[in-house]
Amino acid sequence: MEANMPKRKEPGRSLRIKVISMGNAEVGKSCIIKRYCEKRFVSKYLATIGIDYGVTKVHVRDREIKVNIFDMAGHPFFYEVRNEFYKDTQGVILVYDVGQKDSFDALDAWLAEMKQELGPHGNMENIIFVVCANKIDCTKHRCVDESEGRLWAESKGFLYFETSAQTGEGINEMFQTFYVSIVDVCENGGKRPTTNSSASFTKEQADAIRRIRNSKDSWDMLGVKPGASRDEVNKAYRKLAVLLHPDKCVAPGSEDAFKAVVNARIALLKNIK
Ligand code: GTP
Ligand code: MG
Repeated sequence: MEANMPKRKEPGRSLRIKVISMGNAEVGKSCIIKRYCEKRFVSKYLATIGIDYGVTKVHVRDREIKVNIFDMAGHPFFYEVRNEFYKDTQGVILVYDVGQKDSFDALDAWLAEMKQELGPHGNMENIIFVVCANKIDCTKHRCVDESEGRLWAESKGFLYFETSAQTGEGINEMFQTFYVSIVDVCENGGKRPTTNSSASFTKEQADAIRRIRNSKDSWDMLGVKPGASRDEVNKAYRKLAVLLHPDKCVAPGSEDAFKAVVNARIALLKNIK
C-alpha cells in the first residue's frame, strides 16, 4: 500500500504565514506587492478599497511557504475595514514615500494603530517588520534620507530596505530577507531568535542623532543654553563626542551627527571669550 502512495511533500515542511502591508495612502504598498508577485508596475494610482487579499507561494531554504498577503488601504476612511485584519500576523511591510515626510512621520501612528487593535494582550515582539523607504527612483523629490529612515527602523529592531516599485530596485532582496526572517521565527517556536532582536546601538545614541538632526542652531545642537560658557560648551561637546564617536557608534547617521557636533563647537567657541 505504502509503496503505491503518490509521493507527497513532507507536510511538516510547508508553512502558512500571514503578512500585511501598512502605511499612508499612495506610498506604494500595492505596487510593491504587485512588483514582486506579478513583476509589473502600474503607474496609475488605483487606491485600495479596504483590503486586497492574495496568496502566493515562496521557497525559503527547503521549505515551501504559503503567504497570505493582506494589502491594506492607507486612507483613514478605511480604518473600520482594516482594523480587524491586524491579528495573527507574522510579518508587516511598513511603507513610506521618501518624497513625503508626512508618510515617514506617520509610521509611529501606524504602529500605534496596530498595537491598539491587538489589544493589551497582543504581542508585537515576535512579528517581523520590514520598513520600505519607497519611490527611491524619484531622486529630485527625496526629503527623507537613508540614514534617517534606517535609524528609525533599526532602533526598533526592524529590517530596512530602500525600494522602488517602479524600477524594481530592492524589492526581491526585501521580500527574500523578510520571508527568511519570518521562517526563522517560526522555526524558533514563534519567538525571535535572540541574535537579531536588538539594535547594535543604544536608544541614547539614536535619540542624540535625531536631536542633532532636528536642532535649530549650534547651541541647541550641543544641548546648552544660548550664552553658555566655554566650559559648558566643552563639557557638552565631550559627552556627545564620546557617545557618537565613529569608532564607538554604528548607528545610521552617527558620522554626520559627529561632524555636526564638532563644527558646532568650533562655531560657538569662536564667539565665546
Ligand atoms: P493605498 O492603496 O491608497 O493605501 O495606496 P498604496 O500605498 O497602495 O499606493 P499604490 O501602490 O497604489 O501607489 C500609489 C501611486 O504611487 C501610484 O500612482 C503608483 O504608480 C506610484 N508608485 C508606487 N510605487 C512607486 C515607486 O517606487 N516609484 C514611483 N515613481 N511611483 C510609485
Ligand atoms: Mg494600495
